Amino acid sequence: MTILENAQKILEQINETKDNFQLALKSVKSKNDLESVRLMFLSKKGEIQRLFSVLGKLGPTDRPVVGAELNAFRAAAQSDFELVQQSLLTAEKIKDFDVTLPGRMPIVGSLHPLFQVLDEIKIIFTEMGFRVEQGPEIESDFYNFEALNIPEYHPSRDMQDTFYLPDGYVLRTHTSPVQIRTMENQKPPVRMIAPGKCFRKDTPDATHSPIFHQVEGLCVDKGVSFADLKGIVQAFAQKLFGQEMRVRFRPSFFPFTEPSAEYDFSCIFCKGNGCKVCKKTGWLEISGAGMVDPAVFGFVNYDPDVYSGYAFGMGVERIAMLKYGIHDIRIFYENDTRFLNQF
Ligand code: PHE
Repeated sequence: MTILENAQKILEQINETKDNFQLALKSVKSKNDLESVRLMFLSKKGEIQRLFSVLGKLGPTDRPVVGAELNAFRAAAQSDFELVQQSLLTAEKIKDFDVTLPGRMPIVGSLHPLFQVLDEIKIIFTEMGFRVEQGPEIESDFYNFEALNIPEYHPSRDMQDTFYLPDGYVLRTHTSPVQIRTMENQKPPVRMIAPGKCFRKDTPDATHSPIFHQVEGLCVDKGVSFADLKGIVQAFAQKLFGQEMRVRFRPSFFPFTEPSAEYDFSCIFCKGNGCKVCKKTGWLEISGAGMVDPAVFGFVNYDPDVYSGYAFGMGVERIAMLKYGIHDIRIFYENDTRFLNQF
């Protein structure tokens, strides 16, 4: 036989082996079948290896051509084999799967209790005609203090309370700067609330956290009075806690309101009769409020002879603690699912 005839013959054998291999692979039904195919074609004593051993009979021109063909065949055969092996494994897993087992429920998260309360607060105020405004958490000294008539020597500017940042910026210590930003961009009438994060250098304890949430309220129009402020806060308290909720105002001081007040809700635990939580007073302190100081109007070019307004703040944690009977503020931030799952 000539060298050329030899090459022709091996190529034919390769093609024949390819067909046989594919046929054998197609009829594989079990691991044992698969192992027979491996032994017959892919093992050291298998068909493919045998074809390699006759390469030596070829001449130097044919050997590389046929060799390449054989190499390609071996690689393709190996990968086809692995595909079948993989699908056998998968089929086996499915066979072992017990369809009668109870399903596994995916864990569904829920809104954090603070944000559930915040949503309620937003709904109550938007129903009463307030718009929801937002401002930055990194605030300039101007908006956080200056424009709110908080002079340089005021104790709330104390390094001990405020997180100061470079270049005259602070982490806002309250949501009141949003009052200024809103009035700057809008002519009266204004009715807005501004919910958001606030920051103070407080050591965490049962009632303090360096990060907390406030909702600011502001209403400016012609003829707005302290009675309107009391009416709105009272209406809010009753919508959130029920008709029997009472509100009281006590004189206080804030640089950006005049007159200023602090307001309390009647204790929801003892219904105002006096208990441990309200320290026997029957009242729980909520936050500050008052009539917008004319000096503040000066910063936003509102005419204090034409317009008047009220502003109030409220601590969201405070309200959530009352609503859910929580006695330690820190639990809001611990992400303990045993706590969070209750909401
Ligand atoms: N910004 C004040 C605080 O953080 C609360 C407040 C808001 C008081 C609006 C008066 C008017 O304590």
